[in-house]
Amino acid sequence: MTTIQLPELCLVALVGASGSGKTTLARRMFQPGEVLSSDAFRVLVANDENEQSATNDAFDSLYFVARKRLARGLLTVIDATNVQADARRRIVELAREFDVLPVAIALDLPEDTLVERHRSRTDRPFGAHVIAQQAGLLRRSLRKLQAEGFRQVTVLKTGEDVDTVRVERQR
Ligand code: GTP
Repeated sequence: MTTIQLPELCLVALVGASGSGKTTLARRMFQPGEVLSSDAFRVLVANDENEQSATNDAFDSLYFVARKRLARGLLTVIDATNVQADARRRIVELAREFDVLPVAIALDLPEDTLVERHRSRTDRPFGAHVIAQQAGLLRRSLRKLQAEGFRQVTVLKTGEDVDTVRVERQR
C-alpha cells in the first residue's frame, strides 16, 4: 500500500487519462473544497462537463479560484487529465508564484482497464481512441514529471493502488 506524505501547503496535480479514477481518488483523499475539477468548472460555466468549447473559460475560472485558495495558504488539488506538458507547466508555474510545493499524483492504469471502463460509461461521449491518446501522452510524461518541477511524484499503476493509496498530511 502506498502512503503519500504531503506537506501542509502544496499544489497537487492529478495526472491521468479519463477513467483512471482521479475524481474518485480526490473525493476519498481530500475535502470537497480542496479539489478543483475541470469537469466541475465546465458545469459551472457551461452547464455541461463534456462541453469542450468551455475548456478555456473553465480553466480560467479554475485558476482564478486556485489563486484565491493559495493566497490563503490552502492546499489545492487540480483534478484534470494533465497529460499534456503545457497543462502541467501552468501548474508548476502557479505553485512557484505562491511559493508552494508542486506535487504530482499520476494514475498510470493499464490501457485495457481504461478502455473497458470507458465502454461501460455513458457519461463520456468521446471514442475509445481518445483514451488511447491520453494514455500514450501519460506514458511519455511519467519520466519527465520530476524535471518539469514536480518536487514529489507518485505513480499509481493499478486500480488497487488507486483504491488503497493513503495520504498523510504534515501539520
Ligand atoms: P474523467 O473525469 O473522465 O477524467 O475520469 P477520472 O479519472 O476522474 O475517473 P473517475 O474517478 O471519474 O472514474 C471514472 C469511471 O471509472 C467512473 O465511471 C467510475 O465508476 C469508474 N471507476 C473509478 N474507479 C474505479 C475502480 O476502481 N474500478 C472500476 N471498475 N471502475 C472505477
